[in-house]
Amino acid sequence: MSKSTLKGTLVIATNNPDKLKEIKDILKNNDLKLLSPAELDNFPKIEENGKTLKENAIIKAKAVWNKYHLPCLADDTGLEVDCLGGKPGVYSSRYAGANATYEDNRQKLLREMENIPQPDRTARFRCVMAFIDNNGIEHITEGTIEGEIIDSCRGDSGFGYDPVFLVPSSGKTLAELSVDEKNKISHRHNALKKIIPVIKEKLMRDK
Ligand code: IMP
Repeated sequence: MSKSTLKGTLVIATNNPDKLKEIKDILKNNDLKLLSPAELDNFPKIEENGKTLKENAIIKAKAVWNKYHLPCLADDTGLEVDCLGGKPGVYSSRYAGANATYEDNRQKLLREMENIPQPDRTARFRCVMAFIDNNGIEHITEGTIEGEIIDSCRGDSGFGYDPVFLVPSSGKTLAELSVDEKNKISHRHNALKKIIPVIKEKLMRDK
């Protein structure tokens, strides 16, 4: 591909369709050509074996950079529950086991927190974004959202732990907010907001 064809092209390096949808939605209106894994040949199955969110985000972005040599963006996210010492954290997707579903993970979390009173159920989502630019240089940002874990699921929107994550200022879980409402306040939005200027600076000019 010529350099002008590539201008503004960014691969979203995730195999998770829920994240892909949110990232694309938050990045829209930035004049970027977003490429999804489905649009690339043989998109790699990436093993997330890092010990931190940052390591995992970099592992995912590097796997894509090494294969296609295209600028790419990867997200790694964890739910940190204070009364559980920050768990499930980096293990959020595998909290209830290697092949756990979103529902398995939510139910395990609710069981672990069964006797914890509401004031002690504070938690946050932490999202680390890794962007690899057209010269192979890494850029990292982080975004969080503070909230509380409630004692049962509420709402059908969103994904993962959204139905148990209360946003105190709205009185709603992330799964009770609309897609637009979540994408204006989420950890993912907050991490992307910081990295968008860097992406645009690196990708929108010819090199
Ligand atoms: P990973 O970043 O792909 O390792 O995903 C971690 C896990 O955190 C996912 O499997 C989801 O269960 C959960 N997760 C990530 N982002 C969100 C979110 O925005 N809302 C709710 N759960 C999330």
